[in-house]
Amino acid sequence: MFNFDFYNPTHISFGQGCIAQLEQFVPAEAKVMVLYGGQSAQRTGTLGEVQRALGTRSVYLFGGIEANPTYETLMQAVHIARAEQIDFLLAVGGGSVIDGTKFVAAAVPYPDEPWNILLTGGRDIQAALPIGTVLTLAATGSEMNNGSVITRSTLQSKLPFHSNFVFPKFSMLDPSKSFTLPERQVANGIVDAFVHVIEQYLTYPVNAPVQDRFAEGLLQTLVEQGPLALSQPDDYDVRANLMWVATLALNGLIGAGVPQDWSTHLIGHELTALYGLDHAQTLAIVLPAMMHERRAAKREKLLQYAERVWGIREGDDEQRIDAVIAQTRDFFEGLGVKTRLSDYELDQSAVEAVLRQLEAHGILDLGEHKDIDLAVSRRVLEDCL
Ligand code: NZQ
Ligand code: ZN
Repeated sequence: MFNFDFYNPTHISFGQGCIAQLEQFVPAEAKVMVLYGGQSAQRTGTLGEVQRALGTRSVYLFGGIEANPTYETLMQAVHIARAEQIDFLLAVGGGSVIDGTKFVAAAVPYPDEPWNILLTGGRDIQAALPIGTVLTLAATGSEMNNGSVITRSTLQSKLPFHSNFVFPKFSMLDPSKSFTLPERQVANGIVDAFVHVIEQYLTYPVNAPVQDRFAEGLLQTLVEQGPLALSQPDDYDVRANLMWVATLALNGLIGAGVPQDWSTHLIGHELTALYGLDHAQTLAIVLPAMMHERRAAKREKLLQYAERVWGIREGDDEQRIDAVIAQTRDFFEGLGVKTRLSDYELDQSAVEAVLRQLEAHGILDLGEHKDIDLAVSRRVLEDCL
């Protein structure tokens, strides 16, 4: 196992009705900005619930954070937060609203042009406003991690940053909030959480059985509960299990002390930035092709994944690897998330465009061995067609 440093200060409050406890989590004297997305928080009544729980605190509402949150929209919140001397940010929504709120938190006290936060990956952040979150969509794990992904529309750039300053102080996870999600977003959440586990698990063995078995347990739970979330959309326990899996999939625990990949995510971000595909759609496209391309480098873990997660024991090594790649693709397709570029009306020109963006962003050494250069990315993308 590698040496590691594990830190996660986020307080989780989990369960139906937990939003009422916001009262105890947000400082009584705080000047709060509540950030939310398009229509859903208002329409579902969650925003009203939050406002009631905040009682007499001074509250400024900032709505309109889009899926794949943009720098352009968020900078409006930054200007308002500075002018109004906001001292607490409360995100109400999914990964996009939470990520956007993290950016605002870091940008408000940032002494320089805030886009530099993305260009430096968050390394030079020295301070941030405190954040709390009310999660309405189980997927990204942003509610319990220090990461955020922001898009600058004018540049078609979608870039991540990380900083321990933007860990949420607390997150309220009420699984019943996810009942109002459209099927597509439920399926997206399952795929995203699944690929988060895979990117921290499907690399090479380092004798870390705790991380491996924890990851395999999360994957098995997604395989079991994911389809139930679609076939039994009113089942609270299923939604609760999915929400907790998605949080644990990317809160640092399973990735501590093991190699990590993230190539599928970084190529996927370019597809979203260029063509507006949902984050999870890009992952469902890239992952099967990436597994196929990296079958030699990932051989031992692919075989372990095949056996322990999918119970594949028949055939020689190559056949079992083929079978588990097909099984993974079928899992995504079975949730209704298509796995080919052509399913989204994209062709060879998209391959060329993504490669140009990877080059422009200097993303030339992906994967756990840092050897996925443009030539390898080209083979992966052509296999996605
Ligand atoms: O905008 P509204 O009207 O609120 O609608 C949203 C949005 O259109 C809707 N929604 C959310 N909760 C709902 C609901 N609709 C009905 N009922 C509810 N309870 O769902 C749509 C999608 O929301 P979004 O927040 O975009 O989805 P998700 O949570 O999947 O977040 C995706 C973003 O997170 C980033 C992605 O790149 C993408 O930008 N990621 C963040 C990560 C992190 N911070 O660690 C890691 C991930 O790999 C990912 O990159
Ligand atoms: Zn993701």
